[in-house]
Amino acid sequence: MEIFFTREIPAIAEILLKKHLFKVKVYKKNNSIPKDILIKNIRNADGLISLLSDKIDKNLIDAMPKCRIIANYAVGYNNIDLDYARSKGIIVTNTPDVLTESTADITLALTLACARRLPEGQKIMKTNKFKGWGPKLLLGIELSGKYFGIIGAGRIGTAVAIRAKAFGTKILYCSNHKNDFLESVTGAKKVPLAKLLSLSDIISLHLPLTPKSYHLLNKDNLKLLKPNAILINTARGEIVDEKELIKLLKNNKIFAAGFDVYENEPNINPDLLKLKNVVLLPHVGSATFEARNKMAELAAQNVIAVLSGRKAITPV
Ligand code: DGY
Repeated sequence: MEIFFTREIPAIAEILLKKHLFKVKVYKKNNSIPKDILIKNIRNADGLISLLSDKIDKNLIDAMPKCRIIANYAVGYNNIDLDYARSKGIIVTNTPDVLTESTADITLALTLACARRLPEGQKIMKTNKFKGWGPKLLLGIELSGKYFGIIGAGRIGTAVAIRAKAFGTKILYCSNHKNDFLESVTGAKKVPLAKLLSLSDIISLHLPLTPKSYHLLNKDNLKLLKPNAILINTARGEIVDEKELIKLLKNNKIFAAGFDVYENEPNINPDLLKLKNVVLLPHVGSATFEARNKMAELAAQNVIAVLSGRKAITPV
């Protein structure tokens, strides 16, 4: 059976699949595979390993009549037309758990970078403008004692809360479900969204992109943020109305925002690039050797399981 990879991922995936006698074809270039090339290559694929940047829509699904599994190399799966895949009997899998710690780490990295204005400091140093210690130089915000609001209290939200707790913050969360573990470990309190937004000093998004969460932070909700708030998004860009957020940042209505994801990824709103009070990362939440290796292994194991007639390990 043939498996097509839309991009090269850590070698463990190919090694495992070949060990199980699958034929593996990989798009080797260092860019997102163009749709026409992808369509040409998947006609005979029994399985597809896709990235979050590959839009797996009806056209693509129709172009792979033999496919029985789409193993997305990501925890998010908003890039896939799930209903249509299901209607064709295709199993879709993702890579939960294995990237939780890495994504939680980068969330705290962004939080601290925003709170303590690390990129501004870096710029002073790299442009040789450091004139010595200054009583007012780059004053920032201390995390201890602040309210840390987590929207979406699943695995990543919980791992973020545990880290944030260690910095002395008080955890608030908003979620469809009560998270007893989170509450018992961090003392977190579950509150409605409006309350979380108006009370929190740091707000961090950890929910999937769905039609319901699209622009969850719209103009009205963003207006609830405190003047010293820091907003962190390591989930999906489309959860925030980016244009409205940029207006707040331009007018210093909030302290800062840290982005790992963008509304029109990979295109970045040029206004964002001009702002001082933002920290911008190129969607690297899961970019650790540990997470990426485990993601590759899990994606391959899902393919092997499904194509050997067993249940997927992490079906969506
Ligand atoms: C995912 O896996 O969905 C993340 O966005 C990767 O950083």
